[in-house]
Amino acid sequence: MRQAGRYLEEYRRLRERYGMLELCRTPDLAAEVTLQPIRRFDLDAAIIFADILLPLDAMGVRFDFARGEGPVIEKPVRTPRDVRDLLVDGAESRLEYVYQAIDIVRSKLPARTALIGFAGAPFTVASYMIEGGHSRHFVATKLLMYEQPDTWDLLMKKIAQVTTGYLLKQIQAGAQVVQLFDSWVGCLSRQDYLDFVFPYSRSILSEIRKTGVPAIHFGTGTSAFLDAMHKAGSTVLGVDWRIELADVWKWLGDRTVLQGNLDPVALLGPKDVLAERVNRILDQAGGRLHIFNLGHGILPQTPLDSVELVIELIRKRD
Ligand code: CP3
Repeated sequence: MRQAGRYLEEYRRLRERYGMLELCRTPDLAAEVTLQPIRRFDLDAAIIFADILLPLDAMGVRFDFARGEGPVIEKPVRTPRDVRDLLVDGAESRLEYVYQAIDIVRSKLPARTALIGFAGAPFTVASYMIEGGHSRHFVATKLLMYEQPDTWDLLMKKIAQVTTGYLLKQIQAGAQVVQLFDSWVGCLSRQDYLDFVFPYSRSILSEIRKTGVPAIHFGTGTSAFLDAMHKAGSTVLGVDWRIELADVWKWLGDRTVLQGNLDPVALLGPKDVLAERVNRILDQAGGRLHIFNLGHGILPQTPLDSVELVIELIRKRD
């Protein structure tokens, strides 16, 4: 979960010389950043270095990463006209640099290391387009949903179409797993999730399923509608730390494949507390289908010896 990034000094060194978007858009650099955590930790899988916002540009929405502020969208998408103007045809072809980076990484990764491609899910991508950046209450997003349901429908259909093409091209380029990030969908009620989000995520996942490539579907704060996310049709369900894995298996069945769910903050705390949390997850997962991961992105201040400890504890159980 954000295994490349600022907690690694080799990443920080590259970031002194290049902007975030420059790293993403230069295939050799994106490939190098993807490989950094693999060289250091020999993880089971690499995730291509990119960002869920890259398709915005391809759809005609300009943005940048402002220092210390996160993403800033130049002109947020708010009106029916804004949504009609979004480019769909050929959008995935304007992300060629991602496919090139995937091709380079695949040629450099050991055969035993899987390569994960990814995209943002329609709700989370729409929320950035509408809010213009990160949001606390998602007011503009929910108001568009409630006040202009037809415009919302068109926006979600357009994002879903581009995302499907984008993920299929990542698979063609060599991604062996794809992850659909709906990071902020937990701000919705169960009913709003079902009415305004589920159909669009399901349409993407059903196209991916036809390829035979496994898909991981992830969100945070989703404990109220994990069963619905499960029905959207991914191979693996990603969960955050707010819910016990054992409870999810009880709820959705023992054969459900889960990914998660260590609290990223646990890596900042005392090592004995960290070890206890990791072992608790491993105990609950014993004998079940599980991908160990953090419940959300690794924090920039994470100490490397915490990451090493987590990996060592997992490997001990293999
Ligand atoms: O996991 C990996 O190693 C692949 C790289 C990756 C990035 N973004 C690189 C990145 C992945 C998988 C993402 C996904 C992403 N991007 C999500 C979904 C996953 C999640 O964490 O919820 C979201 C919501 C975004 C949007 C985004 N990108 C935000 C909110 C920010 C700013 C946050 C911050 O910490 O500054 C980014 C920037 C970003 N994307 C960074 C990285 C390594 C930090 C950029 C930097 O170097 O300054």
